[in-house]
Amino acid sequence: MANQVTDIATVKASRVPRIDGPKKVSGLARYTSDHNFPGLVFAVPVGAKIAAGRVTAIDAKTAEKMKGVLAVYTRANMGPIYRPVTGDGFAYKVDETRPPFEDDVVRYYGQYVALVVAETFEIAQNAARSIQVSYSTDKPRIDGELTQDDLKKKESERGDVEKAFAKAAVKIDQTYVTPVEVHNPIEMHATVALWDDKQEKVTLYETSQAIATQQNILAMMLGVPRENVRVISEYLGSGFGGKLWAWSHSALAAASARNLKRPVKLVIDRSMMFTNVGYRPETRQTIKIGADNKGKIQSLSHVYTSQADMLSDYKENCGEVSGFLYGSPNCLVSSAISRRNKGVPTAMRGPGAVPGLFALESAMDELAIALKMDPVQLRILNDTKIDGSNGKPFSSRHFKECLELGAKKFGWAKRTPAVGSMKDGDEILGWGVAACTWPARRLDAKVTIEMRADGRVRVVSGTHDIGTGMYTVLAQVASTELGIPMDRIDVVLGDTALPPGPIAGGSMAAGSVIPAVIEAVKAIKKNFANAATKTNTSAFFGSKPEEIKYEAGMLNGPKGKVEYAKFLQSINMASLGGIGEAKGTMNDKEAKFSTKSFGAQFVEIGWNPDLAKLRVRRIVSVIDGGRIINFQPARNQIEGAIVMGIGMGLFEKSEYDVRYGHPANGNLADYIVPVHADCPEIDVTFLDYPDKEVNEWGARGVGEIGLAGIASAITAAVYHATGVRVRELPVTIEKLLKANV
Ligand code: MOS
Repeated sequence: MANQVTDIATVKASRVPRIDGPKKVSGLARYTSDHNFPGLVFAVPVGAKIAAGRVTAIDAKTAEKMKGVLAVYTRANMGPIYRPVTGDGFAYKVDETRPPFEDDVVRYYGQYVALVVAETFEIAQNAARSIQVSYSTDKPRIDGELTQDDLKKKESERGDVEKAFAKAAVKIDQTYVTPVEVHNPIEMHATVALWDDKQEKVTLYETSQAIATQQNILAMMLGVPRENVRVISEYLGSGFGGKLWAWSHSALAAASARNLKRPVKLVIDRSMMFTNVGYRPETRQTIKIGADNKGKIQSLSHVYTSQADMLSDYKENCGEVSGFLYGSPNCLVSSAISRRNKGVPTAMRGPGAVPGLFALESAMDELAIALKMDPVQLRILNDTKIDGSNGKPFSSRHFKECLELGAKKFGWAKRTPAVGSMKDGDEILGWGVAACTWPARRLDAKVTIEMRADGRVRVVSGTHDIGTGMYTVLAQVASTELGIPMDRIDVVLGDTALPPGPIAGGSMAAGSVIPAVIEAVKAIKKNFANAATKTNTSAFFGSKPEEIKYEAGMLNGPKGKVEYAKFLQSINMASLGGIGEAKGTMNDKEAKFSTKSFGAQFVEIGWNPDLAKLRVRRIVSVIDGGRIINFQPARNQIEGAIVMGIGMGLFEKSEYDVRYGHPANGNLADYIVPVHADCPEIDVTFLDYPDKEVNEWGARGVGEIGLAGIASAITAAVYHATGVRVRELPVTIEKLLKANV
């Protein structure tokens, strides 16, 4: 393998190419749908063509007669698929709690109403298309302003916002709208299900960011003991949150394998990616900020409505950061939901904070303008050392440095604030800034490490590398802690048969697993000392365990030094292992500190009014994400997230047909995402301050934070260039044609 890093100094320098890179580029890395087995058959779901109503009849006669069709499943003949229930935390989390085929009610376009299984994918597709479904149709609830369907729920409150707002010298009271956005990873959701009839055991190859949760939920849905479900997800073609929780197709694939006693592969198609596997729901958010004459915030209220589907309780947690980002003495965050006949929404990269920061940071830009104040200075003025939502100090907050360094790198001092005042050739330039933040939390994690007598080291955990660099980061941490070169370390992830690791979500996985690796290394050192002193054939036999030190791959004791592998060979051991466990801090109410990451995003846009052409020209991002273990994948995460931010700012929106409720742009030709030509130079800087409150290495995890703030920095820049304040995303050319500049 080329490009492998072998020396520990390089590992510590923290620029290590991905150890799974060669496997990925050579095709050796097997993704879910790459798994094939003897007797494999193919399942294709049939989705409803209405958004509200009932299925009255399903005519599958043509499909059933087709050569190669093995079964057409509907409610009538699928057999049991039970209801899962979502629990506290992530262990039993599922957004779509209605099992497929449970009743004949259709609540969203695309909801599965039948499933064809055939000898080939093509036959299954043809047969699925031939199925005629009849409906009784109700008027779907698709469009219209999000008005609250339930009572407003208070999420964070301190002081008296109304009173303070009334007294404030400068006030902003604006409403911001974000549309439905779809994750659209390149790899489509898939399940390959193998059912062992004799033992009632099922193995599921899954596109999953949370195999342990998938195991729990699928055990519930299939009605088999949890230990009889094994879930494997070694590589993922990205998920962005859409692959965190189980979706209906997985249970359908497993139930088909059970019925047919054949391995079943089910890969959903791109159009189903828009309807059946979650999306970021629409939000409508009102921000009221009251400040004194100098710009100090006195009152901040964030009241929002999040669009939901007809059954689930997923809510975009828009106000999560509003309680702590700035130091307002009076603050209120409250929310409601508004139900629609649309698919079930779910977490999408930076859930809550990303649309929430679009609203909050847009309002901050509007406040700066009202105050005739520099927007960077306004944010610095309202920086705080205390998390106002819980009164706790931040463990490590370098927000001001992010803003100052970003401003310096961007050249912010040259900005002239008047609208349309900066030009470059035919383009009017707009410069905008926004803050970003994301919680840093830890989940439970377990890791085993085996030091083998052949010199290789295995680091094993049932967590994931979803494209983020976990394989590499774990190898780096183990390499550093054990003093063993990277190219002798194998990392094994993505299987519920392994010791349970955290979900790959919330930018939490790396920070959660590191302390477990450290614990495993401690255990190994003890186990070596015991093996060395208590084995009669050992050169150290009879010494005290505390006299034996493990140092950089060597055992060092009263009788000299020996390389660990040679030592294992000398006492007839094939391997020596250690188990490490670390507790999560996610729901720790006793925590002394508030742990968050921060950052600042600077954007330059160019607006050519003659051609009505808008483009992002330049982005500078400064991230305070704790210690960065590997700058290469970390920068890659932030750059990717920023590209998603450009999509959010300028392009992305699911448009629904109000009659049938289907996403009219439900494909990658019509749902616009940024391409290379839309992406400017992106300059990412990490402050790299270790946050020891989170873990021993001080790593907080990065990824989602890169998307936060980008859309509001873009709309701030657009305002600066054009004088048009876009409060409803995305910024389309039509909205800018109203500009008089
Ligand atoms: Mo992220 S939305 O937690 O995958």
